[in-house]
Amino acid sequence: MTFSRSIKIAPSILSADFANFGAECQAIEAQGADWVHVDVMDGHFVPNITFGPATCAAIRPHIKGVMDVHLMIAPVDPYIEAFAKAGADVISAHLEAGPHIHRTLQAIRGAGVKAGLAINPGTPVEALEYLLDMVDLVCVMTVNPGFGGQKFIHSQIAKVAKLHAMIGDRPIHIEIDGGVTVETAPLVAAAGADVLVAGSAVFKGGSVGNPAPYGANIRAIREAAQAAQ
Ligand code: DX5
Ligand code: ZN
Repeated sequence: MTFSRSIKIAPSILSADFANFGAECQAIEAQGADWVHVDVMDGHFVPNITFGPATCAAIRPHIKGVMDVHLMIAPVDPYIEAFAKAGADVISAHLEAGPHIHRTLQAIRGAGVKAGLAINPGTPVEALEYLLDMVDLVCVMTVNPGFGGQKFIHSQIAKVAKLHAMIGDRPIHIEIDGGVTVETAPLVAAAGADVLVAGSAVFKGGSVGNPAPYGANIRAIREAAQAAQ
């Protein structure tokens, strides 16, 4: 993973066929995905349940590039080692998931994985001031985490711009997660985002048997974002 601010599209397999994760990961990569975004939910930190480290380990061999694991779980620390062993390249934990996010970030890097810090729409960027030197990625949630297909929260665009200024020339990715479409991607790219997670907007209209729409969707989001960067 060499650092660059070029636009990266990270389809979220939350919108994939859950009975076909391996083939879905191969299909989105073949159709131009840069990273594969994996949403882990526990029914406690967020009101939905997806899957855990065993599923991540099972899909890992089907991903050639970056496996970007977004943990929407609390507590986080007891499970870091398992997600690292499952082959995650990036593990993001939520600032809101517990009282000791500093320790959590140390543990993620300690496990040999890039550390991501995810923040909910209600969390200000000022909360990151003493954490920025410990992270490789900040994930700005542009919906309340828990479900795909929700509406983009526009107040977060100003937050992304503030975060971009705070980061300066540090090699920290700015990832956007939630409601990313051809319409919203340029707004966050202009504000400084470089990793765009998209679930419903990538998977719509396609399937493992008919993956060409995935490619068309990825290209449309990428081109809209690049034009605004
Ligand atoms: C939401 C997840 C997102 C979600 C995005 O809790 O973290 O990754 O799948 O889905 P869309 O792109 O449909 O908003
Ligand atoms: Zn996510």
